[in-house]
Amino acid sequence: MILLVLGCVVVVVLLAALIIAGARVGRLRKKKKGTPVAAEGLPLVGNLVGFASGPLSFIERNFRKHGPVFSVHVMHKTLTFLIGPAASAPFFQNNDEVFSQPEVYGFMKSVFGPDVSLVRTHPKNAARPQIVYDAPSDKRRAQMQFMSRGLRADRLKSYVPKISAETRDFLKQEWGERGTLDLLNSLSELTILTSSRCLHGDDVRETLFKEVSQLYHDLDKGITPLSFFWPTAPVASHKKRDQARIEMVNLFSKVIAQRRADPKPRTDILQVFIDMQYKDGTRPTDDNITGLLIALLFAGQHTSSITSTWTLLFIAANPALKARLVEEQNSLLRTDQDPTYDDLNKMPLLHDCIKESLRMHPPLIMLMRKVMKDIEVSDGKQTYVLPKGDIAIVSPAVAGRLDAVFKDPDVFDPDRYAAPREEHKAVPFAHLGFGAGIHQCMGQQFGYMQVKTILSHILRNYDVSLPPGLPFPEPDYTAMVVGPKGHPLLTYAKKIATT
Ligand code: HEM
Repeated sequence: MILLVLGCVVVVVLLAALIIAGARVGRLRKKKKGTPVAAEGLPLVGNLVGFASGPLSFIERNFRKHGPVFSVHVMHKTLTFLIGPAASAPFFQNNDEVFSQPEVYGFMKSVFGPDVSLVRTHPKNAARPQIVYDAPSDKRRAQMQFMSRGLRADRLKSYVPKISAETRDFLKQEWGERGTLDLLNSLSELTILTSSRCLHGDDVRETLFKEVSQLYHDLDKGITPLSFFWPTAPVASHKKRDQARIEMVNLFSKVIAQRRADPKPRTDILQVFIDMQYKDGTRPTDDNITGLLIALLFAGQHTSSITSTWTLLFIAANPALKARLVEEQNSLLRTDQDPTYDDLNKMPLLHDCIKESLRMHPPLIMLMRKVMKDIEVSDGKQTYVLPKGDIAIVSPAVAGRLDAVFKDPDVFDPDRYAAPREEHKAVPFAHLGFGAGIHQCMGQQFGYMQVKTILSHILRNYDVSLPPGLPFPEPDYTAMVVGPKGHPLLTYAKKIATT
């Protein structure tokens, strides 16, 4: 129990740290007509204690008490929660000049691209690399466009066979005939192999994967609660992170040089970044290219592996659903066959299972923006003014459990998305697993393609179930990207091949 509370405190610390990080223009809230009601809390620490008892139940409790728009004071900052389709609409419809994303996610600069202090420590990086949140808005927009180019449908088609090949090899080597394993751990390993193949390309995957995944691990571990308060604090995890980023640039610089010396058509995203050119004619530096690759790996690694894990856990727990999914698979493909991109688009039930996992357990439970100017928000009945400086928060996890939007929201029911029910279409901004609006997930199609390809192979080749007697896993709110707690186990046995 103490561990649980401590764990939740970590979430609180993360949140508080975010607020502090974005609080340069912070100020005490002025009483203003129409500002959202503030939830009650203890002095000084505001609502930290309530939040620590469980972030989602805390938000839901305040939602029931105060309605869809309410504020929470954490330390000296105000978090304003926007719950439900009407209240969250402006959050998604406005750009960064009103609801700023870089202002709250800026702590990632230390991973995507070194900040000024690192440039000081490592003077060879004379110019700031200006990657994603560190870049001026026009440059960031261009970088996002290049990312989206690498994630377009025509590219995805070429990634499916690569992911299939990785999955087949992995299942053969790591799963074998039968057993019980930690599913999250196993699918995380497989996801990074498949991502490396598609993002970095065959050369990196085949000759440098071990180095890249070790460096990624050090970068990942370099984001701790402390990093939010003090991203350059002289602690071992930060030193390792900063060193890993330098080594990552060195490693990719060699690959980039080799590719420039031997130009040929390549479909991976690294090649998209090598070929890109800004409007002013300049090309990204090796540092820039590496930072963008890191950003994409971070965006897609935990999110995709967690989503495939939840989806398979729900399927394994439900024999009737599993039988329907196996039928869907067998009607399209033999056990040893690789799906094509078109095949993946003919798996509506699997697609809806993934969507349903994202509704019930979205890996990103809170999306945040800093309010850059006073703005009106309506919950459909009442209009509020969100003051400049607030941190606005929309929770995909809470949105997915609203019974006004989804019938029996605590039940895993993928059929809710099929016609004629289509519950997610009744109102805009209902299903927020991939976010919405201008910052909607750019890797959504890639994520679906990757998770479907992996699960298609598993469902056709293995009979899966949950070990008897164990409770269904709970979400781990201590993690930044929320997945199942502990070591979620899956039992599997190889099927006899069909022809
Ligand atoms: C199932 C897997 C995934 C989930 C649940 C997911 C979820 C999300 C969410 C909720 C956002 C919006 C964040 C916000 O509004 O603050 C987002 C943004 C983003 N995602 Fe994903 N994501 C997934 C996979 C991926 C993959 C595989 C990639 C790339 C390879 C990717 C790239 C991005 C990028 C670049 C953005 C930023 C978009 C922007 O700010 O304009 N995501 N993702």
